Amino acid sequence: MSRTAKLFICCCLIFLFVQWFLHQRAEDTAINIANLSVVCHKYNLPLLLVDPRILQQIITGVGHQSKCKFLCHQQSISYFAVEQKFFFNQEEFFSDLDKYGFSCFVFRQHTPQGFHFPGSSQLVTHFEVQRNGHSILVSLLYERGALIPGRGDFWLGKLKGNPLQVSTMKGTSRCASNEVIIGREYSLWKRFKTSKVTIDAVPLRAPTFPEAFVNNLRDSKFIECNTDAANQYHERHPKDETSEAEEFRQSARSLLRKAKSALDDLGVPFWLSSGTCLGWFRQCDFIPYSKDVDIGIFAKDYHESITNYMQNNGLMLKYSFGKVEDSFELSFVENDVKLDIFFFYEEEDYVWNGGTQLKTGNKYKYIFKKFDLCWTEFEGLSLRVPCDTETYIEANYGKSWREPVKQWNWKQSPPNVQENGQWPKSEWAEVMQAF
Ligand SMILES: *[C@@H]1O[C@H](CO)[C@@H](O)[C@H](O)[C@H]1NC(C)=O
Repeated sequence: MSRTAKLFICCCLIFLFVQWFLHQRAEDTAINIANLSVVCHKYNLPLLLVDPRILQQIITGVGHQSKCKFLCHQQSISYFAVEQKFFFNQEEFFSDLDKYGFSCFVFRQHTPQGFHFPGSSQLVTHFEVQRNGHSILVSLLYERGALIPGRGDFWLGKLKGNPLQVSTMKGTSRCASNEVIIGREYSLWKRFKTSKVTIDAVPLRAPTFPEAFVNNLRDSKFIECNTDAANQYHERHPKDETSEAEEFRQSARSLLRKAKSALDDLGVPFWLSSGTCLGWFRQCDFIPYSKDVDIGIFAKDYHESITNYMQNNGLMLKYSFGKVEDSFELSFVENDVKLDIFFFYEEEDYVWNGGTQLKTGNKYKYIFKKFDLCWTEFEGLSLRVPCDTETYIEANYGKSWREPVKQWNWKQSPPNVQENGQWPKSEWAEVMQAF
């Protein structure tokens, strides 16, 4: 046999071995998931498939082999989740997994200050079940920011620190690696419907609308209100606890809850803006002297039923300024406290919202750097804020935003304001309406 032929056969053998190895590895992942599902079932713990890559394959229907289409994959980590409120008897649970030959690692962290979770100062945020070089990362879903208990969204901790192996109380795990997709940062998952499914003969639960679920993962980053910074601020500027301030807080809270309920029902994303955003960022509180609540909505997300939904929740339309396509602004009122909705327009390299002066028809434009939205919890509600909150606030209030300013002129004070002409008289009736 020639040298070339020998070399060729050798390469073929290596190729076949690699194929066999990958195949074996792929089958292992499915067996691991099947066995974990059996143990979860025993503990009445619904095991939720949240792996974006597997879900993506289910959405497109393109799997691997015919028998084990979706769960036999060659990734070293598969992602699942369980609701924390169903997760009891953890010690027994892990010792059962131990009997299957799994190594289990538990990730814990201090309960964040802003998270009023009853009982413990430490939370289990994730656990990892590992066998034959494959890991299943299971994230615990904690309910947060609920308008109605049981219907809130899900908060997920971050994978950090050294997880402990349950049986030995030491060790390292694969999930500390860079490969992880879920658990890289704090997240909030909007509550999603789940259904019972059988995937490759394994009974599981999965998002009923996997496409929406996978899309939402992209902007699910969560930031905690900085309570240390807020405490420092309040040392310098004691919290206003007069009855007048408390009354304002109560009205503001009520406005925010009702607006959230209306906008969530319509599926319109919004974020805390202007003074309300500053209050959250600086002092984890409403700013009592600000006298109103401000939220932002991208004009592209405008929905013609917003006003109806708000009014059905008891918020009356007070002003409408501008047009949907230019400088639009709506103000609602309840108990003499105003909720302003500013609509934001996206340009190539900046975003802006407009202002209109009643009576003169003068227009103003407020310019912001482009921003992404993150989740937070404020006043017991899950809400969005610009992720780079400080840049957003600095655009609006300048570098001295840390100090309270009670004299504020919305047409002149903001560093990012520009004059923007005047509405033509013929349009006044449309672009300046008071109710
Ligand atoms: C693990 O799952 C596989 C595939 O369903 C099954 O054949 C095997 O018996 C399970 N292992 C145990 C210990 O139950």
